[in-house]
Amino acid sequence: MAKRILSGIQPTSDSFHLGNYLGALKQWVELQEGNDAFYCIVDLHALTGEIDPALLRKRILASAAQLIALGISPEKSTLFVQSHVSEHNQLGWIMECIAGFGEANRMTQFKDKSAKGGADSARVGLFTYPMLQAADILLYQAHYVPVGEDQRQHIELTRDLATRFNTRFGDTFQIPEGYILKSGAKIYDLQEPRNKMSKSSGSAAGVLEILDTPEANAKKIKSATTDAGREVRFDEKDKPGISNLLTIHSALSGKKISELENEFAGQGYGDFKGAVAEVVVEYLRPIRARALELLEDERNLVQILHIGADKARTVASKTVAESYKNLGLVL
Ligand code: TYM
Repeated sequence: MAKRILSGIQPTSDSFHLGNYLGALKQWVELQEGNDAFYCIVDLHALTGEIDPALLRKRILASAAQLIALGISPEKSTLFVQSHVSEHNQLGWIMECIAGFGEANRMTQFKDKSAKGGADSARVGLFTYPMLQAADILLYQAHYVPVGEDQRQHIELTRDLATRFNTRFGDTFQIPEGYILKSGAKIYDLQEPRNKMSKSSGSAAGVLEILDTPEANAKKIKSATTDAGREVRFDEKDKPGISNLLTIHSALSGKKISELENEFAGQGYGDFKGAVAEVVVEYLRPIRARALELLEDERNLVQILHIGADKARTVASKTVAESYKNLGLVL
C-alpha cells in the first residue's frame, strides 16, 4: 500500500553535497514511486544560523532547482517550502509545549552546533529546532522519513513526542519511522574521512558539491586523503578514506563493494581514485546542467513551489485542526 513519506532539507549552502544526496535525496527520488511523498525545503530551520537575506533567497531557489534536477518530480511528489505553510509554526509550538526541557537538552546536534559558535551566540531557535522538525513530520502523518544517520536522534524525539501526545490526548499522529540506509547514510569528508561530509563543518576540499564544476570535483577526489597500505579494500576502521570512496562509487555505479574490491585488486590508489572521479563526474554532469537551466526561470520555480504549498496545506491544516480539537482548544 502507498505510504506517506516526508523529509526536509535546509537551504543553507549554495549547493547540496554528495552526502545529502547519498544519505537522503537518492531515497527521496526512489520513494516517490508508488508512495505519497512530501518534500520540504526547510527555510525556517535555516533561520537558526547566520541569516543573509539575499543569500537565503538565492539558496531556497537553488535548492528547488537541485531537487528537481536530482529527480524529484513536482507531479509525483509534493515539493514545497516550509515557510509557505504556516501550519509548521502552529504545530511546532504545540510540540514545544509537549517536549521536556531535559529531553531537548540531550539533542547532540544542538550541543555540537552551539559548542562550535560559543553558547552565547546560539539562538533559542536552535534549541527548539527539533520540535519544529517533529512538527514537519507529524503534520503529514508520515510513515517513513528518509534521512541520513545524523538525523536519527531527531526522529526518535519525534516518535516520543507523537506517542506522548497520542497517549495523553487521543490518537492524533501516525508514529513515523526513520528510513535510514545501511550504506551511504554517512558519507565522510574527503580530507578528514573520520568526519561526516558537511556544509558547515567539513573542509572545502573535502566536500563534493552537486553544483560544482566537474573539474573541481574530479580534483577533490584525486586529492582525497587515502590511508596507509596500497590495497583497495573496505575497512572503515583502518581505511576510512578508501572505504568512503568505495561507498561513493558503489552507490553511484550500482556495483557491489566486493565487486569493486575485485576489480581494483592489484591496482594502486591513484587508479582507483581516477575511476571514482569519473563515476562521480559523469553522474553529476547532467544534474548540474539541468539545475542551472531551471535556475534561469525563477518564476517557474516559484510557481512550482506555490502549487506544492497548496497541496501540503490541505493535509497540514487537517492535522492542526485535529490536534487543536484534542487539546481542548475551541475551534
Ligand atoms: P540537512 O539539511 O543537514 O541535511 C539533509 C539530509 O542530508 C543528510 N546528510 C547526510 N547523509 C549522509 N552523509 C552525510 N555526510 C550527510 N550530511 C547530511 C541528512 O541526514 C538529511 O537527511 N534537520 C534536518 C532537516 C529537517 C528534516 C525535517 C529532515 C528539518 N525538518 C523533517 C527530515 C524531516 C537537517 O538539518 O538536514
